[in-house]
Amino acid sequence: MHMQVLRIHAQDAYPLREKLFTPKGGQSQVDLSKFNKDMDDKTFHLGAFIDQVLVSVASFYFSKHPDISSPYQYQIRGLATFPDYRNKGVASTLVKTAYPIITQNQASLLWCSSRIDSVSFFINLGFRPIGGPFEIIEVGQQQLMYKSLQ
Ligand SMILES: CC(C)(COP(=O)(O)OP(=O)(O)OC[C@H]1O[C@@H](n2cnc3c(N)ncnc32)[C@H](O)[C@@H]1OP(=O)(O)O)[C@@H](O)C(=O)NCCC(=O)NCCS
Repeated sequence: MHMQVLRIHAQDAYPLREKLFTPKGGQSQVDLSKFNKDMDDKTFHLGAFIDQVLVSVASFYFSKHPDISSPYQYQIRGLATFPDYRNKGVASTLVKTAYPIITQNQASLLWCSSRIDSVSFFINLGFRPIGGPFEIIEVGQQQLMYKSLQ
């Protein structure tokens, strides 16, 4: 298996997001495949390719969470691996590739709102939970997680 992690454009992430992020309930008009800051200067998107096929994406936004005190922070959103390629370490490699890019951008902390069933994935990467689970309508139960990159 030959894996490569590359910078991609936001548009390259949309097909995978569209497939894997469907709103809860089915009837909703909310589009979970496009995020407000996708095109911001400080945003970057990574894609993992296996044998030249894009199988996993993640996006990183310069964004401070109000409950976390560190001044310069990045948020990870839209992390997804196609089901056939899961549990091979692809998403872990993708997220780790972002760490030096984030620190080069003068930020020292990465956070996310993790789906409850992905909390163990982030714990394995050294993230820690803050506070208890909360509900986001359309998405479901979430847990705020962070990792210091100092
Ligand atoms: C969460 C998600 C992105 C993980 O993607 P992935 O590419 O399977 O991630 P990894 O393979 O790096 O890690 C997944 C698990 O495999 C394990 N693993 C890592 N490398 C492995 C390897 N070489 N062989 C076997 N297992 C491995 C990890 O320890 C991890 O364990 P966990 O079950 O405790 O999380 C994927 O399940 C997904 O797309 N889920 C739906 C969308 C979603 O929930 N996104 C997160 C929103 S916050």
